[in-house]
Amino acid sequence: MSDRTVTELAAKLTALPRAGNVAAPPAVEAALIEFRPETNSLPSFFMWTLGCQMNVSDSEEMSGQLLAAGCRRAPSMEDADLVVINTCAVREHAEAKVIGRQGLLGQLKRARPGMRVVLTGCGVRESERAGLARRFRAVDMFLRPDEEPELALRLGLVSAQAPIGLRTVATAATTVLSGRPVSAADRLAASRASALAEHRVARSSTISAWLPIVYGCDKTCTYCIVPFSRGPERSRPFDDILAEAREIAAAGYQELTLLGQNVNSYGHDLPAEERFGHIDTERSTGRRLDLRSRPDLAELLCAIDGIRDADGAPAISRLRFITSHPWDLSDRLIEAMATCESVAEHLHLPIQSGDDAMLQRMGRQYTVAHYKERLARIREAVPGIAVSTDVIVGFCGETQEQFEASLRALDEIRFDTVFAAAYSPRPGTPALHMADDVPAAEKRRRLNELLRRQEAIGTERNREWLGHDVEVLIEQITPPRRRLEPNDADADDVDEPMSGVPPLAGTAGEGSVALAGRTRHNKLVHLAGDPALVGHRVRVHVEYAGPFALRGRLVEAPDEPDVLA
Ligand code: SAM
Ligand code: SF4
Ligand code: F3S
Repeated sequence: MSDRTVTELAAKLTALPRAGNVAAPPAVEAALIEFRPETNSLPSFFMWTLGCQMNVSDSEEMSGQLLAAGCRRAPSMEDADLVVINTCAVREHAEAKVIGRQGLLGQLKRARPGMRVVLTGCGVRESERAGLARRFRAVDMFLRPDEEPELALRLGLVSAQAPIGLRTVATAATTVLSGRPVSAADRLAASRASALAEHRVARSSTISAWLPIVYGCDKTCTYCIVPFSRGPERSRPFDDILAEAREIAAAGYQELTLLGQNVNSYGHDLPAEERFGHIDTERSTGRRLDLRSRPDLAELLCAIDGIRDADGAPAISRLRFITSHPWDLSDRLIEAMATCESVAEHLHLPIQSGDDAMLQRMGRQYTVAHYKERLARIREAVPGIAVSTDVIVGFCGETQEQFEASLRALDEIRFDTVFAAAYSPRPGTPALHMADDVPAAEKRRRLNELLRRQEAIGTERNREWLGHDVEVLIEQITPPRRRLEPNDADADDVDEPMSGVPPLAGTAGEGSVALAGRTRHNKLVHLAGDPALVGHRVRVHVEYAGPFALRGRLVEAPDEPDVLA
């Protein structure tokens, strides 16, 4: 495509309403102005977010609270009066990274005694409350994930006469460990509703939106800290989610991702209702759950897909959901994925191990055969669907043969992307009672071998797209920055793995910059183009395929679906 055509296309696109041309923030109610402290006495804040998309979404809510209280964003930790660290605890490394910054934060506080540091997220667990101050020396206040809605209130940034949502008070603790309550998710649905009603969610993107549908986790994975840091599963009411999706659509977002540790079990804790009488699923394996007459993820997908624009097309063109658990992946969900136009052709379905005995030790409640059966059904219903997964190597008692079973699973299933990690023992989890008997060097060796194997498979999968035209939602101008190691999901805050694609050389025309976006199959694509294309869907001809990303050039827009021959 000539540079001129690219420029013309960009000009046409800039004339269209841009994704995320969000309505101006609502005027502050006159009654509230009186309670707002003087602007110059308010802190500037810096939000440091680590971990998964759930943390990103939580940080959007906390930032929204602080902005609503009149605080402003600081460009860096060094410039901030208030640093909020939203931690991840999934592996020791994630916590160590925050502990490693305590010295720097201590120095900053000595230089500016008014500075405050708040630590939130999965690193704050009630069962370890006593040791937190010793481990995180620079921190002034600790908030569990379920206490985050109280951030501004506890900092004294909102008046006791502030709107009710900002005055959310102590939440009930409902996960019990050795007779002690440790974490909760009970009030989060209600506090999300008030945050939305009061426009206190500061979304981090104007193109893709996160939408939490279920908080916490009820599963039994013996290695995992999440149920202890985030409490049991609590679903948001169906109508609240739909109302938020409508707002997101009205604001012009192109992509919506439904969030939860286990989105597949959405709704089981909600009351049965006549309008959901056609839903008669029962969980078929493991602990029985009666899901009859309760809303489920399939129902949600169909309802959100049903939000249409004036032309009858889905108002939000790409609908995604993470994370799925093979235990609860129902036929209804598979059917919804196949029939809902906006549901993207990508599924993240963690397998964790390719060996049944390991899966049992991990408490995963399914077998490799069950996983493969579900995947076969999905691949039949949605041909060409991209599938990504998580794998843990070196879990307690894993033999070389059992590790090789995971390699075989990768060979047989041929995932598009694998996020792999070496097992990291976590405090308070059931696996602490098992021997962590795979030496650290052996865990590293297995991890490297598995990543090497997947690199070849990922390249083969990506090469299938060579020569095809794909729809790419342009998300950003590629920042000139340090690249991360592949699969190091928490290598640095929330970020992309290294793309494995050589830099764009000599392809960019005048006025062009390096752009990056994703296909419906969640493939990362690099291309050169006008910066005005950010936020738009364009068609790209794929010319290069690496293990983690594709590269291509812009083409005129024949509006065809992405399919592999
Ligand atoms: N709920 C999702 C599921 O069902 O798998 C995953 C959420 S978990 C926060 C993300 C991934 O972290 C898991 O899939 C697992 O592979 C990894 N993980 C969790 N605990 C771990 C541990 N103790 N050591 C290494 N990896 C771990
Ligand atoms: Fe952790 Fe398992 Fe829950 Fe996923 S399903 S968050 S791995 S306990
Ligand atoms: Fe997410 Fe890390 Fe917590 S992966 S749920 S932020 S432990």
